Amino acid sequence: MATRSPLPRRPLRTRALLAGAAALAAGLGVLIVAPDANAATTLGAAAAQSGRYFGTAIAASRLGDSTYSSIAAREFNMITAENEMKPDATEPQRGQFNFNAGDQIYNWATQRGLKVRGHTLAWHAQQPSWWGGLSGSGLRQAMIDHINGVMAHYKGKLAAWDVVNEAFNEDGSRRQSNLQATGNDWIEAAFRAARAADPSVKLCYNDYNIENWSYGKTQGVYRMIQDFKSRGVPIDCVGLQTHFTGGSSLPSNFQTTLSSFAALGVDVALTEVDVTNSSTSQYAGLTQACLNVPRCIGITVWGVRDSDSWRSNESPLLFDGGGNKKAAYTSVLNALNAAGPGPGPSSPTPSEPSPSTPGGTAKRIVGAQSGRCIDVPNASQTNGTRVQLYDCNGQTNQAWTLTASKQLTVYGSRCLDAAGSGNGAAVQIYSCNGQANQQWNVNSNGTITGVQSGRCLDVWGTGNGQQVQIYDCNGQANQRFSLN
Ligand code: G3I
Repeated sequence: MATRSPLPRRPLRTRALLAGAAALAAGLGVLIVAPDANAATTLGAAAAQSGRYFGTAIAASRLGDSTYSSIAAREFNMITAENEMKPDATEPQRGQFNFNAGDQIYNWATQRGLKVRGHTLAWHAQQPSWWGGLSGSGLRQAMIDHINGVMAHYKGKLAAWDVVNEAFNEDGSRRQSNLQATGNDWIEAAFRAARAADPSVKLCYNDYNIENWSYGKTQGVYRMIQDFKSRGVPIDCVGLQTHFTGGSSLPSNFQTTLSSFAALGVDVALTEVDVTNSSTSQYAGLTQACLNVPRCIGITVWGVRDSDSWRSNESPLLFDGGGNKKAAYTSVLNALNAAGPGPGPSSPTPSEPSPSTPGGTAKRIVGAQSGRCIDVPNASQTNGTRVQLYDCNGQTNQAWTLTASKQLTVYGSRCLDAAGSGNGAAVQIYSCNGQANQQWNVNSNGTITGVQSGRCLDVWGTGNGQQVQIYDCNGQANQRFSLN
């Protein structure tokens, strides 16, 4: 089950006031609807109840602004680099990659337990200037080399990549760009290269003005995805940017669009949401449309505060320039909370302790997504050493024993230990002390849940050295392990 974030208990005085109000209301025959004490209080936690995420775009240059970064870390659990992972930023000169700004965002996010979407690998805009001197097969090769170089750097680390961005005209034909001029197969070439470069990351096509099902551009993109799926071109998701601003607004058939794309066998996500003057009805409506479609996996707004937006004069985001929550924020949060735990993209099956445990003998803990083992780096026995994924090697620093008291011990005296109970808390080794943060349920659905936190062992990525954390259970393969 997805966990809801715990609410602080109301202070005594507030409880007394509420009780008094309820007594008064009862006397007057008035029905008071108490706020749901279990309602999540942040966008990310509210979305996680149904296995979805709620994200934002982040600009590296703003991370030093504490109002900005504290809102971002508190409210969101998926991060997109607004400009820092685009081709002009990552390969300013041919073959010379620069990941400084992209990594700044990646590190900031993952240190806080937030996941990251990659944006974007191939686009007609924000190209490095040296692409301007190329055409035909030379440009095609440069695009492939770029995909390989950037994806190698982030291999196993990201939730998704927007492989190709904005390749269609409004009428559903292909946009005439230098990339299109390399041949109509440039998009599938990009996706095939991307799959080969990182088989574990979700590959998305991303575009704007594809929200209205009866619009030419929507139909053009739909036909391409349909064609890709029918021919086995690798594609996992469609990103609908959802810029309802500057003339466009929420179409009544938005849910139809989402479910139609999903029916092709891809995930859908709202990737760059902003709405003119933050219309509460449009924000609630677009959120509800996503919640109604099981394969709509999450929503990302394109910036934190209005003042951070690429269209700041239209005040299109969920926080005002002072960092205050706007009415649109509440409309989104309420919609997410009202949806509760389902139907989600991955409504996790209820986890039950496995009848086959405890075994008492040392076993490997192997990740279902990575095939790698939970490993204590360098066979360290130091308290506080964070565990990671690593190639299984049969050594003692990968040998875990599930005890009758639900501990997972290594080297006899050290326990797998959660360094906190919130999303993103580190999982480390520590001297066994019998406390609940060292107790784990090994469940029949493959998850391993912390007794104290209720959260799942989670690893975002598949590579050697990828650190293990606890996170809201979401039913995905990066939270499933086998003890063998
Ligand atoms: O960083 C430089 C700064 O040093 C310089 O002084 C200044 C002068 O203009 O430019 C700054 O760079 C700007 C950059 O944003 C960072 O603020 C660029 O000019 C500006 O073009 C760039 O705009 C970005 C835009 O994409 C470019 O196409 C926006 O921030 C970004 O929000 C926007 O994002 C796109 C998505 O990637 C794709 N979908 C549409 C969306 C909105 O346009």
